[in-house]
Amino acid sequence: MAAVLTSMRALFAPAPAFVIDTETPADVVAREALLERAMGTDRRKKSSEKIRRNRVPAEGLAFVARDRDGHVIGTVRLWNIEAGVSREGKAIDALLLGPLAVDQAHEGKGIGAALMRAALMEAKKRGHGAVLLVGDAPYYERFGFFAEKTQHLVMPGPFARDRFLSLELVPGWLEGAAGMVVASGRKLSQPTTVRRAA
Ligand SMILES: CC(C)(COP(=O)(O)OP(=O)(O)OC[C@H]1O[C@@H](n2cnc3c(N)ncnc32)[C@H](O)[C@@H]1OP(=O)(O)O)[C@@H](O)C(=O)NCCC(=O)NCCS
Repeated sequence: MAAVLTSMRALFAPAPAFVIDTETPADVVAREALLERAMGTDRRKKSSEKIRRNRVPAEGLAFVARDRDGHVIGTVRLWNIEAGVSREGKAIDALLLGPLAVDQAHEGKGIGAALMRAALMEAKKRGHGAVLLVGDAPYYERFGFFAEKTQHLVMPGPFARDRFLSLELVPGWLEGAAGMVVASGRKLSQPTTVRRAA
C-alpha cells in the first residue's frame, strides 16, 4: 500500500522547474543568445576566451539548464587546459570552467548551483584532477573554489588575481603548479573568425 501511495505521489508531483542536460548542437544558438544577454560582447575580450577560442569543450562537459518547455535557461562548459607545470617540469592537465550563466528571469532558483554541481561531478567521474576559473570569489567559494592554488599561475592576458580560482578534484593535483595556463583541447575544425575579402 505504501509503495502504491509513493508511486501515486510521484505521478501527480509537479514537473521540476528546470533540468540539467548535456548540451547538443541544437542548443548553440540559444546558448549564445543567453550569453549575449547575460554578459554582453565584452565577454569575448576576456583572457579565458583566448583559451576557448577555436576549441571544443572537454568531452562530455558542456551542460545546459532547460525550463519545462525545453528552452535553454542556463549554460556552463569546461575546457581542457594545461595549468602550468609541476615542480618536476611536467605539464599539469586540468579544466577551465566558464562561462557560467543563467537567464536573468530565472536567477536565484538554484540553477547556477545545479549546473556547477553537475559539471563538477561529471568532471570528477571522468578522472579530471582540477578545475580553474576566473570569476566572482563570493559566488564560487561555496563550491570549493579559492585563489590559493593559482598563486603561481598566470592567464594568457589580463586577469584579476583575486578572481583566479581553482578547485582540486584530486587532492594535491595543483601542488607546485606554476607558469602559464594554455589551451590543450581539441581544435574546432572550422575557425570561428571569418576572413573578409579585400
Ligand atoms: C552568477 C549566476 C550564474 C548565478 O546563477 P543563479 O542560478 O542565480 O545562482 P543560484 O540560484 O545557484 O545561487 C544564487 C545565490 O548566489 C548569489 N550570487 C549570485 N551571483 C553572485 C555573485 N556574482 N557573487 C556572489 N554571490 C552571487 C545570490 O545572491 C544567491 O545567494 P543566496 O543563495 O544567498 O540567496 C547568474 O547570476 C548569472 O548568470 N550572472 C551573470 C553572468 C555571470 O556573472 N556569470 C559568472 C559569475 S562570475
